[in-house]
Amino acid sequence: MRLSLRFLIPLLIALGVFAYAAVPLVDSLMTRWFVRDLDIRAQLIANTVQEPLAQAIESGSPGLMARYLARLTQDERIYAVGVCVAPSMPPIATPEFPESLACDKLHPYTDSEAPPLLRTPRGPLHVAVRAIDAPAAPGAQLILVHDMGFAVGRSEETKRYLFYFFVALGAIVALITVVIAQLSWRGWVQGLRALLRGEGLVRPASAADVPELRPLEAHYRPRDESQLAWTPETLRSILKGELQGHEVIVVSNREPYIHVKADDGIHMQRPASGLVTALEPVMRACSGIWIAHGSGSADRDTVDDRDKIAVPPDAPAYQLRRVWLTPEEEAGYYSGFANEGLWPLCHIAHVRPTFRSSDFEHYRTVNAKFAKAVKEEARSADPIVMVQDYHFALLPRMIRDLLPRATIITFWHIPWPNPEAFAICPWRDELLDGMLGSSILGFHTQFHCNNFLDTVDRLLEARVDRDAFSVTFRSRLTVVHRYPISIDWPPDAALLSKSIADCRRDLRARLRLPEEHAIGIGVERLDYTKGILERFRAVERLLDLEPQWVGAFTFVQIAAPSRSMISDYQHYAERVRSVANEINRRFARGDAPPPILLLIEHHEVESVYEHFRAADVCFVSSLHDGMNLVAKEFVAARNDERGVLVLSQFAGASRELPEALIVNPYDADECAAALHLALTMPADEQRARLRLMRGLVAEFNVYRWAGRMLIDAAAMRQRSRLSRFARARERLTSA
Ligand code: F6P
Repeated sequence: MRLSLRFLIPLLIALGVFAYAAVPLVDSLMTRWFVRDLDIRAQLIANTVQEPLAQAIESGSPGLMARYLARLTQDERIYAVGVCVAPSMPPIATPEFPESLACDKLHPYTDSEAPPLLRTPRGPLHVAVRAIDAPAAPGAQLILVHDMGFAVGRSEETKRYLFYFFVALGAIVALITVVIAQLSWRGWVQGLRALLRGEGLVRPASAADVPELRPLEAHYRPRDESQLAWTPETLRSILKGELQGHEVIVVSNREPYIHVKADDGIHMQRPASGLVTALEPVMRACSGIWIAHGSGSADRDTVDDRDKIAVPPDAPAYQLRRVWLTPEEEAGYYSGFANEGLWPLCHIAHVRPTFRSSDFEHYRTVNAKFAKAVKEEARSADPIVMVQDYHFALLPRMIRDLLPRATIITFWHIPWPNPEAFAICPWRDELLDGMLGSSILGFHTQFHCNNFLDTVDRLLEARVDRDAFSVTFRSRLTVVHRYPISIDWPPDAALLSKSIADCRRDLRARLRLPEEHAIGIGVERLDYTKGILERFRAVERLLDLEPQWVGAFTFVQIAAPSRSMISDYQHYAERVRSVANEINRRFARGDAPPPILLLIEHHEVESVYEHFRAADVCFVSSLHDGMNLVAKEFVAARNDERGVLVLSQFAGASRELPEALIVNPYDADECAAALHLALTMPADEQRARLRLMRGLVAEFNVYRWAGRMLIDAAAMRQRSRLSRFARARERLTSA
């Protein structure tokens, strides 16, 4: 538009000047034409009246002459007529004959170069003087006076038309200028394409249609991200600044809020999920759309007609869009391929993966269903889509096909196996192809990034760049990066509002444990990768090796029921129950508390934090875990800087929290020694370890996790816009 104005203003000024100069010119030209016409006409009349006039002069009768002249003025153009017989005599004339035309003052109308016009108050008159060939009066002259009023009228009319003409000309030229300016702005090639598509000239070029020609605006954020205080506000400013207010769409299988039917109405639950723990605060900050499977029994009753609900219910900050699955789809995609196939494939927990082609069919169908939902929810052609986890390995490619310009950040929350392990999957190529539809692919640890690149290198025809940590496949680049996930920091004040002393007292009272009883805590889904059996064996070993803890120490295990339709999980739950019973039986001492309290039930986050704050030691013994946020949550809960974390070396969190007591969960002796060390650790040492760990979690909180991915996405978008811009410019100059 600015470009068009730059053309238009000088153009309109030039047209105005031209019109100003042209009007008087045209006016004088027309006057000359009319004068010439009247001269010719006067000559014609003079020739015609020559003879009768000569006879009237011969007759010497002024009356006869006057009557004859009066007849001549019946012609509507002839205003007056006069005859001069001699210069010294007054003219014989019709009544309107102007007095100023005396017979001795006719020379301005005969000798001058100027048009023979007489200016009178009623307008200009044309004066034509012609000689009469009359022997009786040798110098006689006929004076024909024509009214020029009609010429003035026509001249006014011409000026008016001329004015309209210039206005119309100005408008047409302006329109052409704007269209040409627009066409060259969009690029000739695209302008012509638009014309061929029938979009016409008048449709303004939409920046959304031609993104490479949107004004380039770059933001540079210093790389030293440690200088930033990572808060919800930081995330919002990245979205507003670097990402220019673009929408964020998150896709996960598990939804952050589940509505379930109960006898007393509809209840809302927060699932036991590390993914939800991490993403929920991010979404509160980003205010986008979270698309997830609506798995609750009352989920359909709580959404609007577009399957959406604003959450969190008490202070809505973003939209949850629920996707519905049939029981068959859920069984095949979720229980089958995701949790009986990919889950054991990616975790080293010695559970054999099961691959069924019917499950994979459902997995494909459900991924496509979510891709359609993403397309429906996208408000622009290039949204930022954050795909979560192993439920959606095919989704990035499907989104890429539907929204080629989307920035797709895929985060794989579980470990990535080595190439040999992954290669047993019958659909390995399709899965890798699907994931490589992503712009950015994130894992928790460098080790898992390395495994992924090795796998691609081994199984696909792709260009793997180990310097830049990227893969180019089907002409598209995917950057593979490490983004260790974390939790909300500082933690919600409400979770820390109950004092440590109250938490200790209340929990012990509820579990019927003595006031000074030592407590260990474990919190997870009832999943074989979490090493719950190994944990119980470690407690058993502790009691064997350090019998003073028998009756003085209880390990409280919160195990949220999980994936209970899968037989491996059912067997695992049975084993966990039976091993807990076996150990409790072995160390039963009258009324003394049991060594293990197994609570297989869902606990809301407030209750989980109360347990963390009441415990002396927290034991995370995963056999294999992407990160494990329970470890970080325990650290966050202990603002009293007391308590000890015993942590598996096979959880990603062990790379970030080396001040925990790091153990091999398969080594019961080592774990038992760590538990004993934890239970006897001096307060100073507990404080020193917790301070370091709390500092780490504070610095690397979940806003930093999400923020780093968004910053990388923004940089990628800017780089690809720059290259699109350069390509568009090249096309323009070569066209
Ligand atoms: O650890 C993988 C994961 O998807 C987590 O991201 C999440 O916390 C957990 O599994 C939830 O499992 P599910 O959704 O099957 O209950």
